[in-house]
Amino acid sequence: MKIGIIGGTGVYALEYIENPLEVNVATPFGIVTPSVGVYEGMEVAFLPRHGSAHSIPPHKVNYRANIYGLTKWGAKYVFSTAASGSLKKDFGPGHLVVLSDFLDFTKGRTSTFYEGGSDGVVHIDVTEPYCPVLRKIVYLSGMELKLPIHSSGIYACFEGPRFETPAEIRACQVLGAELVGMTNVPEVVLAREAGLHYTTIAISTNYAAGISSIPLSHEEVLEVMKTAGDAVTNLIFTSIKKVKMIKEICGCEEPKRKLPGL
Ligand code: HPA
Repeated sequence: MKIGIIGGTGVYALEYIENPLEVNVATPFGIVTPSVGVYEGMEVAFLPRHGSAHSIPPHKVNYRANIYGLTKWGAKYVFSTAASGSLKKDFGPGHLVVLSDFLDFTKGRTSTFYEGGSDGVVHIDVTEPYCPVLRKIVYLSGMELKLPIHSSGIYACFEGPRFETPAEIRACQVLGAELVGMTNVPEVVLAREAGLHYTTIAISTNYAAGISSIPLSHEEVLEVMKTAGDAVTNLIFTSIKKVKMIKEICGCEEPKRKLPGL
C-alpha cells in the first residue's frame, strides 16, 4: 500500500515518516523528488507542493510532474492540503474542510495528461472529483481528533499569485463557492486522470477579500498555518492508519487506463 502526501503552505509532514529519503522520479514533465519512508508499515511519499524552501508560487507549480511522479512511484492514495480563503461564516480561520467539488478560474494551466495524437483524446468524468472513501476517512478522523472539521466544501481556484478582488469573491458566492485558493486545480483533475484516490483538506486561513475586515497577506496565512499545520498533519497520519482497512469500493480507478508513457 503506497501513499502520497502533497503538502501545501505550512504543511511539512516529515516528522511522522521513518527514515525519509529523497528519491528522484523522472517524468515527461521533469524530475520530482518526494521524501519517501515508512509509516505504520506503509510506504509514504511526501511532496511539498511549493518546493522544500517554499519557492514555487501557485501558478508555477509543476502539477503534472507531481501527479505523474507520485503515480509512477506507485501511490494509490493521495492526501493533499490547501490553505484557503473562506467565503462562509462557519468556515472561520483554523477550520478544516474536506473538499467535495470545485470551480476553476485558473488561466493557462495545462490540466490534462492527454494532449491528443498518440496520447489519445480523453474526457474524464468529474462528477465525483475527490475520492468519497478517503473523504469519509478524513472527516471521521477529524471528528475523532475533535478538530473543527467540515465534511464538504466547494472550492474556487484562482490563478493567483495575487489574492482575489471583492467583486470576484461576490461573484463566487453567487456561484456557490465556499472557499478560494490557488492550487487545487489542476491537481485534483490530474489525480482523477491518473486514477488516484485523492482527497484535499482545505485549511481556512482567512476570510476572503471583501469579507475580511483587514487586507489579505501571506503573513496572515502563515500565522494561521503555524498551528493549523500541525493539526492537519496529525489528521493526515491518523487517516493513513485507516487506509489499510478500506473495504468500500469507489470509482476512482475507473476506467482503468495508463498515463501516457507509463
Ligand atoms: N485567496 C486565495 N488563496 C488563499 C487565500 C485567499 O484568500 N487564503 C489562503 N490562500
